[in-house]
Amino acid sequence: MGRRLAAKITGVACHVPPRVMTNADLEKIVETSDAWIRERTGIMERHVVDQGVAASHLAAEAAKKLLAQTHTAPEEIDLIIVATVTPDMMFPATACLVQDRIGARRAWGFDLSAACSGFVYAVTVGAQFAAAGTHKKVMVIGSDVMTSILDYQDRATCVLFGDGAGAALLEQAGSDSEGILDFHNDVDGSGGCNLYMPGGGSLHPPTHETVDARMHYVHQEGQQVFKYAVRRMADVAAGLLERNGFTGKDLSLVVPHQANLRIIRAMQQRLGVEDAKVLINIDRYGNTTAATIPLGLQEAVEQGRLRRGDLLMIVAVGAGFTTGGMLMRWAY
Ligand SMILES: CC(C)(COP(=O)(O)OP(=O)(O)OC[C@H]1O[C@@H](n2cnc3c(N)ncnc32)[C@H](O)[C@@H]1OP(=O)(O)O)[C@@H](O)C(=O)NCCC(=O)NCCS
Repeated sequence: MGRRLAAKITGVACHVPPRVMTNADLEKIVETSDAWIRERTGIMERHVVDQGVAASHLAAEAAKKLLAQTHTAPEEIDLIIVATVTPDMMFPATACLVQDRIGARRAWGFDLSAACSGFVYAVTVGAQFAAAGTHKKVMVIGSDVMTSILDYQDRATCVLFGDGAGAALLEQAGSDSEGILDFHNDVDGSGGCNLYMPGGGSLHPPTHETVDARMHYVHQEGQQVFKYAVRRMADVAAGLLERNGFTGKDLSLVVPHQANLRIIRAMQQRLGVEDAKVLINIDRYGNTTAATIPLGLQEAVEQGRLRRGDLLMIVAVGAGFTTGGMLMRWAY
């Protein structure tokens, strides 16, 4: 049985910082090579912020573009959900900073922490309010400045990530033939130790010792994450198709989380979907955590690869471990 939500995405807009860091730039910082990064991850370059630019800044830029594109006044926004693991600060929530910056006077909001599954989780949550009709316009944002928590002495991790933000507008769906057909989200907390930032929270508040021990950076067991992601991305996507009576052939487009090209290809093979139906932009952005899926959606719309009525799958695995997948009929 599918879990339909009578909500639809009615606009997507993104913002990435202008500065580009290529693999060649990274060769100057850590012992790595363009060839290794391309072969093992599919990444060629990523966008990175300048000092002083935080998740709320990228998020607000994406939000402003979304308002302009959808001809929405800031006062019309009822709720702002920001998915991020790199908030400007512990509190207030990034959503509050964005609310102020874009002038969304009537909106309430909060942050949601689900790492790379953040956008899928945020759409799932926001869609409940749109579907219920209690909130007419819900803004969902995925924004991460991963470079603020990367250890540029850890070559296995620092080459993977980039910075960016994407915002989507959610509204009530008018009919059964548009919007969210089904979703599946889950958590396996036993995998938390494979991808985390140990310092800075209530367990290890910042001290000179925690900084010296490099605890305020991403720590990752890459192979464990890789194995989990390969299995779960494919399982969740295949499961969603099956329980809704679809096969890979019915899909118009898959916009997967962009963590590693090899993870995406493994999922694609399992679904039996051809290359043209899988959005890949990891080569230009790297892994932007909560922003990968909206970046992919925007690109697909711009390129005419995603049109009204198309059957779309979005799917992600992230730190937690968190997993999220959603099947929808594109509505604009
Ligand atoms: C991180 C990742 C790219 C590493 O790829 P891998 O093929 O598993 O590589 P391994 O960890 O087995 O390392 C292979 C070798 O490459 C080396 N290596 C690691 N990073 C390197 C780099 N940037 N440049 C050059 N060599 C590197 C390792 O030191 C190792 O060398 P060794 O064999 O001499 O010990 C891969 O595990 C991955 O993508 N994991 C998932 C990460 C992810 O998606 N995270 C976000 C979750 S949403």
